[in-house]
Amino acid sequence: MTQDELKKKVAEAALKYIKDVPVIGVGTGSTTNFFIEMLADYKADIEGAVSSSVGTTERLKKVGIPVLDLNDVGTLEVYIDGADEISPHKHLVKGGGGALTREKIIAAASKKFVCIADGSKCVERLGAFPLPIEVIPMARSYVAREMVKLGGQPVWRENFVTDNHNHILDVRNLDILDPIKMEQTVNNITGVVAVGLFAMRPADIVLVSKGEEIITL
Ligand code: A5P
Repeated sequence: MTQDELKKKVAEAALKYIKDVPVIGVGTGSTTNFFIEMLADYKADIEGAVSSSVGTTERLKKVGIPVLDLNDVGTLEVYIDGADEISPHKHLVKGGGGALTREKIIAAASKKFVCIADGSKCVERLGAFPLPIEVIPMARSYVAREMVKLGGQPVWRENFVTDNHNHILDVRNLDILDPIKMEQTVNNITGVVAVGLFAMRPADIVLVSKGEEIITL
């Protein structure tokens, strides 16, 4: 199976989690994009979706799903999104697409976070994928220096501005032994908007496609 076929398969497996859910939280990325395409067949049952990025908003609208403001809908029943790395504890690294801050907000405001991914995303320990950090532009160098003190090698994602008009640092070489502690430490650096570690609020359910199989963590 190709990686796209695996992504499609796991996206399809997430459909059972949106039964009788009027408003869904929808993430960002190539796996989630397959899920959005599939939502077209369910639009009669869906009141709307809360979107995690400008890109996802465009895609949702294209398939006919109304996009709602999180402030108007309150707590969400379900949030569906992909990940860049997944640990056995359902801690995640996210933000490869740069949408981590809105993704974190939706995850925080959701009762159930269902993460969908192909098997290549599963790791024993987080940190091989460079950790994305959204920063206020004027704090970029300061935050980079603080990340060096933590043992990381930050790289500015040049020519990229987030939907919130901020910058992204991708931090390599971090050995994330304690993801919760690392998330707290990075959150405490002045100028950090959000770090792409989802450990304090991990996924509740992880669906992984491996060959023909869908594994549920
Ligand atoms: C977007 O900012 C990310 O958090 C994505 O959810 C993550 O990068 C997974 O994307 P893919 O499904 O494209 O691998």
